[in-house]
Amino acid sequence: MLITPTRENLNKVVVLNPKGGCGKSTIATNLAACYAQRATAPVIMDYDPQGSTLAWLERRPGEMPTINGIAAFKKSMQATRSWQLRMPSDTENLVIDSPAGLNHDDLREVTRDATSILVPVLPSHMDIHAASRCIADLLLVAKVDRRDRKLAVVANRTRKNTKSFGKLMRFLDSLGIPIIAVLRDSQNFVQAAEKGVGIVELQPSRVRPDLDQLEKIMRWLDNWPERRRESSDVTGIRRRPFSKVAFLRRSQAGSS
Ligand SMILES: Nc1ncnc2c1ncn2[C@@H]1O[C@H](COP(=O)(O)OP(=O)(O)O)[C@@H](O)[C@H]1O
Ligand SMILES: [Mg+2]
Repeated sequence: MLITPTRENLNKVVVLNPKGGCGKSTIATNLAACYAQRATAPVIMDYDPQGSTLAWLERRPGEMPTINGIAAFKKSMQATRSWQLRMPSDTENLVIDSPAGLNHDDLREVTRDATSILVPVLPSHMDIHAASRCIADLLLVAKVDRRDRKLAVVANRTRKNTKSFGKLMRFLDSLGIPIIAVLRDSQNFVQAAEKGVGIVELQPSRVRPDLDQLEKIMRWLDNWPERRRESSDVTGIRRRPFSKVAFLRRSQAGSS
């Protein structure tokens, strides 16, 4: 079972989707690079045994702002899990990159006390279907309450006028889950990844459209204290029960 640390006022951002290749590590590393520009160094935890986020961190040039990396996928019998996952005491921002195919226990652990959960989705029918399943599991297995407004989708690698995304948007809209940014398919992300940097650390004139979308994500993430406060104010609304089967039927109707 995975354990992730809990701390009052820690901004814990989880990037999650059991589908490989949808852009989890790309988004996680780019968010970490944005947080690295702030006063305290962020932590990025890599739960993926492939370790691509830590490999990115190893490529990171020494003169770039510090990002602390933790190999959360490594489990040692010699130390307690909380010791293995210890972070510098002044850490304010934690970004979690998750592996493909999390089991239910791990899903619950990784998302516990998250301030925000981002689900990247590619614009193919199969990916949208997989994302619907992932969202169903977040709501029904990890018990993420939609009213907490922690959950958002990032459309990734889009080309203009993608028909499937229109359907996905209507479906998510009916659930009250926002699509907070639409990242285009861009070599800027590939080149930044190769250099161990985020697009925020590339020449601004080159990456403007991509940076605009990344900033949209950062604005939504930065709003977590307000989202938390507002959701705790929302009382008396009865949670509408729904079944996983009904949920997935609706998602298929939306994305087919
Ligand atoms: N917006 C994008 N534009 C271009 N390439 C992208 C974009 N997002 C991801 N990629 C590329 O797609 C591949 C898979 O992305 P990655 O972030 O590793 O996915 P995951 O972590 O979900 O498996 C990588 O080669 C990455 O560089
Ligand atoms: Mg990855």
